[in-house]
Amino acid sequence: ASTSVKLNTGAEKPTVGLGTWKSQPGAVEHAVEYALKNGYKSIDTAAAYQNEKEVGQGIKASGVARESFFLTTKLDNPDQGHPAEALESSLEKLGTTYLDLWLMHWPAPMTKEGGPDHSIDWLDTWKAMEKLYLENPDKLKAIGVSNFSIEFLERLLAEAKVVPAVNQIELHPSCPQLELVEFCRKKGIVVTAYSPLGSDGSPLLKNEVVNKIAAKYDVAPANVLISLQANRPGVTVLPKSVTNERILANSKIIDLTEAEIDELHAIDKTSHFRACEPNWTGFGTLGFPDAKP
Ligand code: A2P
Repeated sequence: ASTSVKLNTGAEKPTVGLGTWKSQPGAVEHAVEYALKNGYKSIDTAAAYQNEKEVGQGIKASGVARESFFLTTKLDNPDQGHPAEALESSLEKLGTTYLDLWLMHWPAPMTKEGGPDHSIDWLDTWKAMEKLYLENPDKLKAIGVSNFSIEFLERLLAEAKVVPAVNQIELHPSCPQLELVEFCRKKGIVVTAYSPLGSDGSPLLKNEVVNKIAAKYDVAPANVLISLQANRPGVTVLPKSVTNERILANSKIIDLTEAEIDELHAIDKTSHFRACEPNWTGFGTLGFPDAKP
């Protein structure tokens, strides 16, 4: 696997980055500092994670120059009605003047209380993000989406001026999303895998097939799961950890054979799950065929 993937903007997105979903304030500052000091070139956060400020502190503490790593954050669902304001808030919390990538977190505009906001169409939010991007090249190097199914991407692409640079989605052997990844590849949209290990308490780390392949290459099961995503064409990956040894170990990518990739993806046939189920009240399944109804 190569160390980076080219976006449709021409910029390179590093293949492995640090994920921070569920990283607690107090732990995430250190994790970001440690990752940047130890060679990570990509950090992913979101307004919804409520840790942008700590991520910003970690960046500052690392002493690593802003231009030497890729920084992503996301527009939160309740902020879809005021994206310009939300962007300024994220920049301020992160202590930076620009983002390498800004994503619409979900095609799901919400009220502050968390229910659907029927007064907003996420497609209009995308158009507002496009305008911010086209008018502020100094603040936004790329824009993209997250948690978009084929159905929702088709609606977006029919009207978009800017093709999303990235679609960030859940990917691991129990949620391989083969068709969605192939759809994005054909459209020139880089896919970024979140929860590549299957998130907290994942059964995948104990899976027999994963462990068999890990033993063959003399690596940890986590390396097999992270490498699986890094080996897919046009895919980058965001393992999350707040543990020093794991942060270090997770950046090691091995080359898997096609047969091993197929064997890992076959796990889904008997054990499918999502760490983040897209089936919230008032929204439905967001076009994901495997979502629980
Ligand atoms: P922690 O952050 O406490 O180190 P995912 O990236 O799929 O969301 O998975 C994140 C979960 O996997 C977290 O609970 C994280 O724990 C754990 N984790 C991260 N790296 C490893 C690893 N190398 N081995 C085992 N568990 C890991």
